[in-house]
Amino acid sequence: MNPDPELLKEAWQHRKEHPQSIYDRSGVWRFRDLLHFYPDNKDLSQILVSMDGEEGRTKPFMLSKVAEYVGLKSNNFYLQFEGDNPTGSFKDNGMAAGFTHAKMVNANKVACASTGNTSSSMAAFAANEGDINAYVFMGSGRISIGKLAQTLEYGANAIQILGDFDDAMKTVQAVSKEMGIYLLNSLNAYRLEGQKTIIYRLLEGLKWEVPDLVVCPGGNLGNTSAFGKALTEPYKWGFIDKLPRIVVVNANGANTLDRIYNEEKIRWSYTDDLWNDKIKEFYTKLDEENFKAHTIASAIEIGKPINLPKALRALYETKGMVVSVSDQEILDAKAIVGRNGFGCEPASAASVAGIKKLTEEGIIDKDTFAVGILTGHQLKDPKATIEYHKSSANKFANPPIEVPNDIDKILEALRK
Ligand code: F0G
Repeated sequence: MNPDPELLKEAWQHRKEHPQSIYDRSGVWRFRDLLHFYPDNKDLSQILVSMDGEEGRTKPFMLSKVAEYVGLKSNNFYLQFEGDNPTGSFKDNGMAAGFTHAKMVNANKVACASTGNTSSSMAAFAANEGDINAYVFMGSGRISIGKLAQTLEYGANAIQILGDFDDAMKTVQAVSKEMGIYLLNSLNAYRLEGQKTIIYRLLEGLKWEVPDLVVCPGGNLGNTSAFGKALTEPYKWGFIDKLPRIVVVNANGANTLDRIYNEEKIRWSYTDDLWNDKIKEFYTKLDEENFKAHTIASAIEIGKPINLPKALRALYETKGMVVSVSDQEILDAKAIVGRNGFGCEPASAASVAGIKKLTEEGIIDKDTFAVGILTGHQLKDPKATIEYHKSSANKFANPPIEVPNDIDKILEALRK
């Protein structure tokens, strides 16, 4: 039987306003009814994993300066800050669900490859649970420093390999298989169930008015896949009366999806084995080209996204689009988010830069109703932010004023 939209919307609102437990407060578990593996016949506290109800407590915000920057009317444009999760990124949404499944199958070891956010989230949940060992695989020098600090502090075992994220991803799969470790990268379908709630909160925040576009950065394409499900299922069940188009934004230096979708024109197929056929062929071509992903947006510096077929399905079902943006466009967009008193990491700002690109190219107009997902916290990759603001060559730079510690000189500098 399909879920009843009106009854459920009422239940979610009630849980939010009158929480009976941490699971009602959690922005993930509040929507537990639509998470496919949720076992509703058990005592919730015996089953569900949560950071004391704090994960997923986000909603969309209107940001007028960013709206103006991207060329949309301010009441038609929202950003949702998933960096406001307990460990500083959207990963906590999926990790609550992935960890719940890990516990359901009695896993005592979990692993992931990461550029920082997945590892911090997994390590924090493991520490919070207490009886699960966490193993993090990372490319040497390719994890952001603050995130490495978080991961170590939460007590995870950090394994540094020579290589980048794509190498670490391959290695963690082989090691996990060999040692029977539960894998928590986004190829884990239960994690994606948790990430669906990013969209439920977005729709709830818009009072179930459906935007034209939902825009997110594309790395391993877990969000793209989860958002596809999170939109098509409620559409089928009558929660929403139209489907927004998903827009995935790649960095120019990590643009595999863009190439596959816009140049190779590979599309989702219900019958072909895309993974073992066209995608494998394309990934072999990348190896032959010696392609290595490279972008300032560390979280999306991924050359061989693991969720490509699922992402193609999400794009197919929502008539989606894929665009790429330069590192400069990403950093300018990030600075503008900051000018609104909010913040995000470089990878997240790709969402904003992508919307701007679409308006500039005339693909969308100022009346388009768009929501961008900002996936990670402003304090990730701070070196990139400081370097941006120090260089007056950057459009929105805000360099520190350097002055001797002398009151007269300081007053003189401030009066300029
Ligand atoms: N944004 C942020 C902040 C991320 O941390 C990631 C992925 C992405 C976007 C890409 O999302 O994979 O769903 O397309 N971070 C991984 C990590 C690589 O290790 O934390 P996706």
